[in-house]
Amino acid sequence: MTEWIGTANKNYASYAMEELRRMFEGMSLSLLSPGETFRMNIPLEREEVLQAIRNDKPIFLRYLQPVDASRELSLDADDLDWLGDWLRLSKSKLDGLRVGVHIRKADGSPFPYSAADTRAVLDAVLAEAGAEPAHKQPDRLVAVYASKDTLYAGIGTPEEMLSDWPGGAVRFQREDGQISRAKFKLLEAEREFGLDYSTFSHALDIGAAPGGWTSLLLERGLKVTAVDPAELHPSLKAYRTLTVLRKNASEVKFEPESFDLLVCDMSWSPMQMSRLVLDDITPALKSGGTAIVTVKLMHRKPLQTIREVKTRFSEHFIVEGARQLFHNREEITLYLKKK
Ligand SMILES: C[S@@+](CC[C@H](N)C(=O)[O-])C[C@H]1O[C@@H](n2cnc3c(N)ncnc32)[C@H](O)[C@@H]1O
Repeated sequence: MTEWIGTANKNYASYAMEELRRMFEGMSLSLLSPGETFRMNIPLEREEVLQAIRNDKPIFLRYLQPVDASRELSLDADDLDWLGDWLRLSKSKLDGLRVGVHIRKADGSPFPYSAADTRAVLDAVLAEAGAEPAHKQPDRLVAVYASKDTLYAGIGTPEEMLSDWPGGAVRFQREDGQISRAKFKLLEAEREFGLDYSTFSHALDIGAAPGGWTSLLLERGLKVTAVDPAELHPSLKAYRTLTVLRKNASEVKFEPESFDLLVCDMSWSPMQMSRLVLDDITPALKSGGTAIVTVKLMHRKPLQTIREVKTRFSEHFIVEGARQLFHNREEITLYLKKK
């Protein structure tokens, strides 16, 4: 039996829990922070759990923290002493490695120490143990979660925990003149799916306005064709590599196989979006080309909606990934490769 803490985007924990329940027979689940964070006991060894997650990453699970040790909160310095002692005992797992520390508290947890104070204590133990405290590109993560009554601690790799950000809450720096928050979704998709947009040459952006995604692809050196009846931000006019079509996506026609990247962020029902993309747009993408598509979750059965959309796309695409990114709101992101 192994113990874990899972985190999903706000209000999506129930879907993450449902996915996990289908994956791990006989597991038990309890909420630690409503709609977001939950504890699980799974009747499998750690490596078996990680392997199952690697093979079929749940869409709504943003962060997976192993629980190697836990104790009831004492709400005084004993809590920090206990964490320090536990980490000292785990020294052999960390020696010579770059180690990041993630501290999180449930809403309303009475744990009295700030994340910064707790991290300072653990960083000192790490240094003493021959590890290098590291914020960027850590080899291992030490994850601590304080619930309303319990302190949980565990160690894993960023890959095992599904993110190198605490709780999977990916933060990008907002830039001066940034056109839209939506840009972060495409940036996060690049990281999540291990892509490098600069390796593509010509992108088609469907539902492009106001132009956050288009601006990112232009900055990466791609030629971009942007389709949207709404206007793109005037700052994009400076790019000679941009073609703008102020039209509904159902009205545009392209030569077959003109693009090697298709991105689509239309605010539309998933069924209409998939029909339009598959019938009218997909022929314009090269075989082997990549597509990044957001799927809005408009009604109450997201798992069923996603299954239906994936089935539709499977006719012409290999579904390489389906994830609710931190920057996705009422939606998920698909990573597809055209057959
Ligand atoms: C969420 S916004 C896209 C934001 C964009 N990705 C960015 O980074 O700025 C959705 C856009 O889809 C467009 N849209 C909705 N239906 C469309 C359609 N049938 N054809 C083209 N664009 C459409 C809307 O006009 C709107 O500008």
